[in-house]
Amino acid sequence: MCGIIAIISREPVAGRLVDALKRLEYRGYDSAGVATLIDGELHRRRAEGKLRNLEARLAEQPLSGTIGIGHTRWATHGVPNETNAHPHATARLAIVHNGIIENFRELKAELEADGYRFASETDSEVVAALVTREMDRGADERSAVAASLRRLEGAYSLAFLFRGNADLLIGARRGSPLALGEGDGEMFLGSDAIALSPFTDAVRYLEDGDWIVVSHGGHEIFDAEDHPVERPLRRSTGKAFYVDKGNHRHFMQKEIYEQPEVIGHTLGAFVDMTSGRSRIPGGQRFDFSAVRRIALSACGTGYYAALVGRYYFERYARIACDLDVASEFRYRESPLDDVDLALFVSQSGETADTLASLRHARDAGIRTAVVVNVPESTMAREADLVFPTLAGPEIGVASTKAFTCQLTALAALAVRAGVDRGTISGDGELELTRALAELPRLVNEALHREDQIELLARDMANHRHALFLGRGFSFPLAMEGALKLKEISYIHAEGYAAGELKHGPIALIDDTMPVVVVAPHDRVFEKTVSNMQEVAARGGKIMLITDESGTKAEAIRNARVLTLPDMPEILTPIVYSVPLQLLAYHTAVQMGTDVDQPRNLAKSVTVE
Ligand code: AGP
Repeated sequence: MCGIIAIISREPVAGRLVDALKRLEYRGYDSAGVATLIDGELHRRRAEGKLRNLEARLAEQPLSGTIGIGHTRWATHGVPNETNAHPHATARLAIVHNGIIENFRELKAELEADGYRFASETDSEVVAALVTREMDRGADERSAVAASLRRLEGAYSLAFLFRGNADLLIGARRGSPLALGEGDGEMFLGSDAIALSPFTDAVRYLEDGDWIVVSHGGHEIFDAEDHPVERPLRRSTGKAFYVDKGNHRHFMQKEIYEQPEVIGHTLGAFVDMTSGRSRIPGGQRFDFSAVRRIALSACGTGYYAALVGRYYFERYARIACDLDVASEFRYRESPLDDVDLALFVSQSGETADTLASLRHARDAGIRTAVVVNVPESTMAREADLVFPTLAGPEIGVASTKAFTCQLTALAALAVRAGVDRGTISGDGELELTRALAELPRLVNEALHREDQIELLARDMANHRHALFLGRGFSFPLAMEGALKLKEISYIHAEGYAAGELKHGPIALIDDTMPVVVVAPHDRVFEKTVSNMQEVAARGGKIMLITDESGTKAEAIRNARVLTLPDMPEILTPIVYSVPLQLLAYHTAVQMGTDVDQPRNLAKSVTVE
């Protein structure tokens, strides 16, 4: 998704705008630009591709000015090129925008009928012209923005810079996040706390519908009805969050290796490691004993975490769960009468479809909860209950440590729910939490198999298609493993329940189709062995991820076997994620793709 930064200062801003944009690179982008005011006149520098291209442009043609706006663009309307790059400008103003204006075509036609002309294919440029027309009709800057916002349909976070006014920035948000950063005699607007982290940790988060007027000395915030409002000042942790790769080649590899530590941190929020008792984190109060049904919903990797969560809640707490991809949840119009908890899973806490689903459940009067990695995110602020994953910022677009922390949180919550509902005894709880406490060590064990996995990746990189199979707790992992591989290596990969093989996918099997089988030696292992024999009989190339018991139990002809330690079933989805992450990572490295910022992808999809 796009990234926004705006600065009003007494010092030159162009370099600082670019610094902030570098902290937003992880969101994914394909062009970038900045604009400043020099002696009251608007000046822009924009470039297609990575920020280094914008920096080269600025080196050729430096920009002075102590007030400016900047943007990294993830193309929604119009190809990624300099013409479509933000900031967009008219004679009166420059603008940066994150989101989608859904009625931009009719607004554009109306403006063209009034004589306004457009240089780009973007919806954002229409907003610039809309505000300009209001000013051409005599409105001042804030009135022009307020009137224009009322015409917009869809999602936006916006920042405006006005010709001739070096003491004014205006921002607005609906559906896409925007925050105010307060400095010493200078002020900032940014998409998130990480963008603001180089400048300040004093942050105020705008709420949906808010717009804000910013000057050197202060700010005024107005709600959707233009009433003055205040938003609480928070000390963001964004400053601590600016990370580098350490001695790793990519953020993704670094984050894979952070898992033992951050899984341990997350577990500590949900389990009192001294007593071994599970708990609802953060001093919140919630009792699962009255919960008849849980509606789970998420997107992408979050959805596969929620799928594991369903297995957990149904197995350990005997709570029936519905599960939807968030983009379907509110349109399926499922009866929610006996749903007592709507539980959402999101790393960013900003995914548009998941946020809309949370609001749909809330509006239906259902208690909402979110498993979320960004404590200051919109979902964290709007849900009734916040279940934090303490993974730290996840910069790689492909989710890894956030996923295993989500699974850790969901496992602990399922134990808590089982205790509340009496399906888990006190001793049973201690047995399960002791097992969960083994996670950091076992994940570390899995990491120690990286060299072996790298060899499997060299082979995988020679293929254009792959199949992932799993049963029971491992079925969601087959889906997640396929997503990891496809999103960073661009190899077409599909995940299936192993039992589905004979219902169609087996037609794909020949000696050009690698089949990754996730199969700990659990109660469905023998059935999966049958599937592997069917694959082997047709020349399929099997990569089996199993444990010591599984390795001993069955020798599958021409299968390559990765052996993990034996472990309790509740741990397998979390630990078995690691080889799948490393397989995808090393395959992508072999393929030479942009591992941390894969093509076409964004870290947080804040548009529907
Ligand atoms: C996962 O590797 C992808 N980057 C993507 O599927 C992601 O999980 C999805 O967009 C949901 O994002 P969220 O967890 O921030 O809501």
